[in-house]
Amino acid sequence: MRIGVLTGGGDAPGLNAAVKAIVNRAHDHKIEVTGIKRGWAGLLETESEPLDIHKVEDLSAEGGIMLYTSRTNPAKMPDGIQKCLTNMKQLSLDALIAIGGDDTLGVAEKLFEAGAHVVGVPKTIDNDLSVTDYSIGFHTAVSIATEAIDKLRTTARAHQRVFVVEVMGRYTGWIALYAGLAAGAHLVLIPEVPFDLKDVYALVKKRKAAGKVYSIIVIAEGAKPVAEESLVFKKTEKDQFGHALLGGVGPVLEKLIERETGLETRSVVLGHLQRSGPPVAFDRFLASSLGIEAIELVRKQQWGYIPVMKGSEIVPVRLKEVVAKRKQVPPELYEMAKTFFK
Ligand code: F6P
Repeated sequence: MRIGVLTGGGDAPGLNAAVKAIVNRAHDHKIEVTGIKRGWAGLLETESEPLDIHKVEDLSAEGGIMLYTSRTNPAKMPDGIQKCLTNMKQLSLDALIAIGGDDTLGVAEKLFEAGAHVVGVPKTIDNDLSVTDYSIGFHTAVSIATEAIDKLRTTARAHQRVFVVEVMGRYTGWIALYAGLAAGAHLVLIPEVPFDLKDVYALVKKRKAAGKVYSIIVIAEGAKPVAEESLVFKKTEKDQFGHALLGGVGPVLEKLIERETGLETRSVVLGHLQRSGPPVAFDRFLASSLGIEAIELVRKQQWGYIPVMKGSEIVPVRLKEVVAKRKQVPPELYEMAKTFFK
């Protein structure tokens, strides 16, 4: 048996560890693995390389992804899905493992519905896949953001400034909430709960009046004030999955706070640093477990399924459930976090 493996969408620390696990488990069962380069783009162009246990041996701690990735969407192209099916045959692939977030896995589901043998693996630093408690890359992004906020605290205090730290997460506030709480931010603003600018100004002024010399506000890139019509975009042009590039709400908030409160304010946009460098141990472990389970699904011919984390277990669910719903920060979790907003 020969299978292909690809990763699509934004990279996430831990992807290489997943590929390593897939190749090793496949090797144990005499399954050959072909790496498809640059996500769906590589399948459309039959760009691939054979993988073996020696090639992936040193990958546990490597960030990025040795196969490269892309945001190419075959479903947006005439006959794109059909071409993927044809090219799977041309590459002699009996099955395909697609590692990705909702976009990549949405394509995987379409391919499965068109008759291909497909299994998924969940990854995204945004952690917005409803079927899994955690996806590959999220814990690393949270750790990087937490460490950055911890560091910013010293300069914020030394200069007695307000700091606004913008983190990724697209339409959800998971990274913001986890990192904000972990680093002891004084306010966390997330897309799920539009905020009132007056409350933000009031909080920093109240802290100042209480003798606190600095404040740290963490804002998710997709957060917006109640009155605002649209989000802040870095680029409004949409990608093949219909997403415009978010970014810049932090600097906007910085200027507003300084103008409205008179307090000296700075902002930092953490951006792609959150996806860069080596994965934390949890992501390496998660990626390894998910990769192994993906091969188990292949062996059982459970096509159209994806292994996910529920509690401390890895269990299979249907791929189509992934695309059905986005996982948002629940209101009760945000309410809990408010305990620290002072
Ligand atoms: O989905 C992962 C993510 O890092 C989001 O948090 C962010 O909005 C987006 O990708 C950035 O996209 P790009 O890699 O195209 O700049």
